[in-house]
This record gives sequence, C-alpha cells and structure tokens, in this order.
Amino acid sequence: MGRVGKFTVGEHRLETPLILPVINPNSDLIPAKEIGDIGFKAVITNSYIICRNEGLREEALSKGVHRLIGFDGAVMTDSGSYQLSRYGEVEITPDEIVEFQEAIGSDIGVILDIPTPPEVSRARAKRELAETLTRAKAAVPLRKKMLLAGTVQGSTHLDLREESAREMAKLDFDLYPIGGVVPLMESYRFADLVRVILHSKKYIPADKPVHLFGAGHPMMFALAAALGCDIFDSAAYFLYARDGRYITSTGTLKLGEMNYLPCQCPICSSHSLGEMKSSDDRVKLLALHNLHATFQEIKTVKEAILGGGLWELVEQRCRAHPRLLGALRVLGEYPLENCEPLSRPGAFFYTGSESLLRPGVKRHLARINRIQTTAKNLVLTLHSQKIPDKSGFGSNEEYHVCTVSPVFGVMPSEIEEVYPLTQHLYPETLDRCQTAMIKREARRYASGFERVFVDESLRSLGVEGEDASGIDVEMSTEVKVQALGDYQFGAGAGEVLFKGCRGRYARNGRLRQIFDGDTLVATVRASDGILIPSLEGARRLLKLPQQRNRVVVEDFEVCKYIMEGRSVFAKFITSCDPEIVPGCEVIVVDGDGGLVGWGRATLDGRELLAFKVGVGVKTRGSLSGDSDVNVEE
Ligand code: GUN
Ligand code: ZN
Repeated sequence: MGRVGKFTVGEHRLETPLILPVINPNSDLIPAKEIGDIGFKAVITNSYIICRNEGLREEALSKGVHRLIGFDGAVMTDSGSYQLSRYGEVEITPDEIVEFQEAIGSDIGVILDIPTPPEVSRARAKRELAETLTRAKAAVPLRKKMLLAGTVQGSTHLDLREESAREMAKLDFDLYPIGGVVPLMESYRFADLVRVILHSKKYIPADKPVHLFGAGHPMMFALAAALGCDIFDSAAYFLYARDGRYITSTGTLKLGEMNYLPCQCPICSSHSLGEMKSSDDRVKLLALHNLHATFQEIKTVKEAILGGGLWELVEQRCRAHPRLLGALRVLGEYPLENCEPLSRPGAFFYTGSESLLRPGVKRHLARINRIQTTAKNLVLTLHSQKIPDKSGFGSNEEYHVCTVSPVFGVMPSEIEEVYPLTQHLYPETLDRCQTAMIKREARRYASGFERVFVDESLRSLGVEGEDASGIDVEMSTEVKVQALGDYQFGAGAGEVLFKGCRGRYARNGRLRQIFDGDTLVATVRASDGILIPSLEGARRLLKLPQQRNRVVVEDFEVCKYIMEGRSVFAKFITSCDPEIVPGCEVIVVDGDGGLVGWGRATLDGRELLAFKVGVGVKTRGSLSGDSDVNVEE
C-alpha cells in the first residue's frame, strides 16, 4: 500500500510520505526555521498549548501561527487531544479549538478527538468513539480555508476501528489520522499497531492522506508506509535528545555509551563524538542529528517505493527489533494481494522466511490454479538461478513441465518469463521454510495428475515421483500462450484469447508476439513478460464470461474521448472489477458493456473508484485501430 503522493495545502505542494517535526511553541531548542533549512516542508504544532497561553494566543491571533513559530512551510496544528489523553480533560470546547485553529491560519487542523487507549473495555471505547463522531460532525461545517483532519479511534477493538473509519469516511475530511496509537508504539507493540492500522485503513477513503499520529521513530517508517500511512509526526527527535539518545534508522543508541558516530549528517561530520558528549549544546546537537536521521529515512522509504524495493526495505528494517519482526509476520496474515502491483522494477529478493508471506508470492500460489492444462503427466524439476538453457523444453498437450522454486513453489514453464518468477533471487543454501515450500507446493500441485516425474534434486528434498531423467518434452506454443492468458487474465481467458494462435519469437528464444493468422492479439513485454493486448486482444477480453479486468465509464462524452485514445481519468470511472491491481491490463467499457478502450490500470480497484484526480487507466490506442499499440512505457 506504500505510495508516493502529492497534495496541496494553500500554496504548499507537499509530497508524501511526509514527516512533520513537532514544534513546541514553548521551547526554542530548535527554531522552526532551522528545521526548514534541513529540508522539512511542513511541521506540526499544538494549537491547544498556544490557546492556553495568553501571550502566545494573542500573538498567534494577530500574526498567524506561521509567524508565531517562524516557519514559512505548511503548518499543521493538533487540537489538544493528546493533552486530553494525558491529563483526562482540556479546558476548551471541541468547536472552539477548531475555530481557533482556523483563526490562527493553520494549514491543517485536527478535531478534538478522544484518544482512547489500548485495551480499555469495549463499552468505553464505543462510548468515546460516539463522542468523537459527534464532535467530527460538528467540526466539518466550521472549517473554512484550512484542511481538516478527522481522526480514527476505537482502541484495540478492531471492529470499532473499522466502524470508526467507515463513519469518518462519510464526513468530508481532507486527512484521516489514525489516533490513540502512541501507547502501542511506546511499548513496542508493533504487531497490534499493524492490526489497528490495517483495520482502520480498510475503510478510510483510498484517495485521502493517512496520518499515523505520534509515529516519529524512523525505524518504523518503512513498515508504516507499506501499510499505507502517508504522514508521520515526530516529537521523538527532541524527546530522545533530552534523554541523551541518538536515533538511527534501525534503533536508538545512548550517546554516553557510543564509541563512534555512525552517521555523516552535517552535525556528525562536524563534531567528534567527544565534542558531542561534552558540549553544552549536547541536547540541541543530538536533536539536530535525530532530525537528519529522520529526514534521511523518509527519503530512503520514498526511493524504495518508487524503485520497487519497499518490501525488501520493510523486511530489512523489521529485522532491527524482534517486535518489528513480529509485526511483519502479522502483516503476512492479511490478504494484501490486491494492493500489490502486477510487476515492479527490479528483482524479488528473498531476505528470509517472511518473504514467503509477501502478497506477490500468495498471488502466484493462487494464480497457478487458473492455468488449465489437458496434460496427464507432470514433470517437476528444481528451479535453478542460473540462466536456463532455452532449448524448447516445456509444456505441451501431454506433459505439463514446471520448475519448483523455494520462493514461489511450482512455476509452470509456460509462465517462467513472467514477473516476478524470472527475477527472484534467494540463497542457494535453502532454509527450512524454503524446503517446506518446495515440498508442500509440489505435493499440492501434483495431486491432479496421473503420472508425476521429478528430478534428482527434488527427490533429494523429499518430493516423490517417478524419475524424470531422460524425459524430453517439446514445448507447444499454443499451450504456452493459453497458459499466459489464463495466468494473467483468469481461468479460461487463454482459450478465449489465443485458441489457434501462433507465436513470434525473438532471437534469444523469448516469445515476443502472439498472432491469430496475420492479426496481432498480444505483445509480450520484454521487461516483465506481461501480456499487452492489441485492439483485437481487447475485443477478445470483452468476451470473457465474468466481468473481469473491466473498468466501466458511463459518461457518453467521456467515452468518445477514450475511443480516440485518451487516457481515462479516475473520476470518470463508475465501477470496476474489484480485483484489478496496479499495472493490470484492463478493458474499458461504456454503460452498455461496449468496448471503448483498453490499457494499463495505474491503481487498484478500490482506488480507481475513490480517486477524483489523476489518470486511472493509461490507454494504449484508439478504437479505430489506426494508431500503433503503445507497449513500452
Ligand atoms: N497525538 C497523538 N495521538 C493522538 C490522537 O489520537 N489524536 C490527536 N488529535 N492527536 C494525537
Ligand atoms: Zn548524524
């Protein structure tokens, strides 16, 4: 669910994932201006503290909160909810604090929600949630210029988290923070945090930024970003500094016990450890380093998202603490296949047994069942990471030929060139989880076949079957292309798309194009083996019995543009197959089910319906068929 997003606040264009350092209006340890100089584009401060102090209040009301704290980026203000959770009460009404935030020119204000702590009784959580909802409803009409954040609460009662998100989603908020989670993070209860986030996220509108309140330690940014949290706030940088603690992307060190400064930020490269330890400015220096470490991790996470390596980063970071590792395993219990793009730039790296819980693996295990084979004989060989010899050995009508990988399980030879099956790397010395994967998946897959042949390597791992040596099977192109169609578009699609088709191969032996007679039906994208339908391919997809891979646009005028080859803006999509994942090749139909276009979905099914800005389907040509099909992107 990790995403790099853009949103506009007044004249500020912000990019997510975004971290907002907390500015304490009562402290000038690090002026907001210095925070801006590091590169932070936005900060968060506390409107309740400002409001309760006469001097600050008057200054904020006359000059605005930006000038009060001396920051010309975006300023978010919190409402006093945190004080409510610490001290049990606040001396202001929910409406007053929303109006006050507006009056001091806050860019993003927050309602006075009630942060219910973990593990309270369901009755209490429900009661407080009802009060938060009442306040939320009252707050929405009070907002004028500023953006308004409506916090999801519900304690650790996951059904209440869902109810909270569902109810808040009905109100017109610009941001949806997840609140009441500071106690979970303070006690390193990251597994429960994952549950709370996922159940809240389920019903938060997919196009709205999600703020994880109080998440300030960089070691959890990658995980939280992968869960679809877009905004974080950090008081940690100064709270930790005050305690003499030095933040890194994998944990926290005690300055007094350190032997080196393992960082090259401007602070750490211009001070020796001794200077830092003995300086009168020690707290400030530490806080500045902590800010740099925080900023750097956000950039690392963003790079990983766009570069396709977020899972790998999450798995690395979660190895920094056993509680994070536990959280990663909980994440593996949830079905996230719909969020996982069809393919990513870069290879799939196995970093440990938790990699087997990734949605890409689960999706493959579900999708191989789509492949319809007439063969009665199954040939299984152990997958090799060496470049395979493409000598035409592969499935045909009688033999279904597969390799078995310790990451993806059974990989039919027909689809071995499809991402991520080709591009996955793992250590040659298999661990127990990998050998278990091989055995379990080989056994599961073999059950429908009359005869099963296995090679020596698999036999030595405990996979049963007749000796496969000496078996030489000549691959059938028709079997291959139909399997590709089934795997990508669903069971039965291969036949509808490619019955009687022939392939054109590149010099390196790879399938490039699929023709029916002289008509191009699909191209195989070289980078990831994904099928790109031609106009004829799109027409055939329309014949599939279920409404799969389908996006509906009802507006007649809009359909005319799409037919000319224009891309489909998400806001015009009226319904779609909920199982569309980002990168899916889809067909676009009008209200009567007639084809108006085809192309690549940029978002998942839920997002396609939620987003009101941006392109939802990048089309590949005009319906008149006179333009070339645009395959490489
Ligand atoms: N800061 C930390 N947690 C919370 C929360 O639950 N609500 C608000 N408004 N602010 C917070
Ligand atoms: Zn540093």
